[in-house]
Amino acid sequence: MSLKISVIGTGYLGATHAACMAELGFDVIGVDIDAAKVAALSRGNLPFHEPGLPELLRKHVDSGRLRFTTDYAEIADWADIHFIGVGTPQRADGHGADLRFVDSAVHELTSRIRGSALIVGKSTVPVGTARRLRGIIDTEAHSEANIALAWNPEFLREGFAVADTMRPDRLVIGAEGGTAEALLREVYAVALAAETPLIVTDFETAELVKVAANAFLATKISFINSFAEVTETIGGDITTLADALGHDIRIGRKFLNAGVGFGGGCLPKDIRALQARVSELGLSHTMGYLAEVDEINLRRRERVVRLANSMLSDKLVGARIAVLGVTFKPDSDDVRDSPALDIAVRLFNAGADVLVYDPKGNNNAAERFPRLHYANDLPEAVAQADLVLLLTEWAEFKALVPADLEDVVAERRIIDGRNVLARGQWEDAGWEIVGMGQHH
Ligand code: UGA
Repeated sequence: MSLKISVIGTGYLGATHAACMAELGFDVIGVDIDAAKVAALSRGNLPFHEPGLPELLRKHVDSGRLRFTTDYAEIADWADIHFIGVGTPQRADGHGADLRFVDSAVHELTSRIRGSALIVGKSTVPVGTARRLRGIIDTEAHSEANIALAWNPEFLREGFAVADTMRPDRLVIGAEGGTAEALLREVYAVALAAETPLIVTDFETAELVKVAANAFLATKISFINSFAEVTETIGGDITTLADALGHDIRIGRKFLNAGVGFGGGCLPKDIRALQARVSELGLSHTMGYLAEVDEINLRRRERVVRLANSMLSDKLVGARIAVLGVTFKPDSDDVRDSPALDIAVRLFNAGADVLVYDPKGNNNAAERFPRLHYANDLPEAVAQADLVLLLTEWAEFKALVPADLEDVVAERRIIDGRNVLARGQWEDAGWEIVGMGQHH
């Protein structure tokens, strides 16, 4: 008989996981405390943008294989496996991860389960969390219950969430005892048959793999951006530098794109949570470099604002600035910790007349910053602009050529915050174009 699966938390991670589990043929119930989200998902409506996911959601809501509820009682003894995919946001005091949603999910489940079940954490958590939760389960579980625990971190990227879930680069399972591994091998049978590497390890290693991966990626981006600061000062071409470095397969070309820096709901908060956790462990010096990684990243935003001011000959106040892109990356409507949105707000606060356009992110940005002005399309955003800023590399922005803009802007000035435009072509058309890592 096919496994029954519950997925607790229906954000990016949980909603994707739930739909993909249904696609693999399992009966799935997604659980969330947000009744409005559950109602939307139950109608087959995805409350965020993720390519390919709406189709999967609708398909399996229609087939009846995928349902959603707010009620733990419905799933506690129904599911064989409970995946926990709730958020672990940065704590309000800025120090470490807020684990209240993870703790509450474990508590809600443990207090209701009477039979055998496996709880699998997918959320990104500070090392030591799974072992602490194991203790809570042991203390709180009903005498008839038999609850196994595993940690199975998720490495999906927004914009590629479905593909990353169906065919991950690797699967990591942190567990004690063989039950968890056997059940998870069944869940991931399709990926395993396709020779996806499987690493079975202890709780601590599984938790650390996840944060180490994100810390490494963040460090790689800040590494190249630190060189961008150098080439911005003395000259040199940052993209050529990255290409040349990338040919060394020990280094690799990916995540060496200089730009406005990293953002989103994961990399920034994860490197901060990791620093907080190692400090708690008495190792504050050990990951001091992550503070630098964060600082280099945030300096990119200041750099763009300074560059804008200098290109406008110190006349930022009142200048019409078109901001193209506010999401933290393309193919997403996510504006959490978005460098692009932060830059737009900084320019607005400095007195510029900012008009923002993003193919998918306008609504989320407007919710956070209603005072910014938003354009319905690209032509509206760039009309009469004194300066155009390309801050998120959406395909429609990457495809821009000078002829698309020159009759509508007031001045031919553009900052390429992602180094995606063919600079020579713009210079030939009479534009002042400055990219990241470029001396100005
Ligand atoms: C990241 C990781 O890549 C995933 O593996 C991980 O599962 C996820 O966090 C998570 O922890 O849930 P994501 O936040 O979707 O995924 O975004 P990325 O594709 O990693 O991009 C992060 C940021 O880095 C973006 O703002 C992007 O523009 C920026 N970036 C990326 C650069 O500035 N330069 C690069 O060369 C690459």
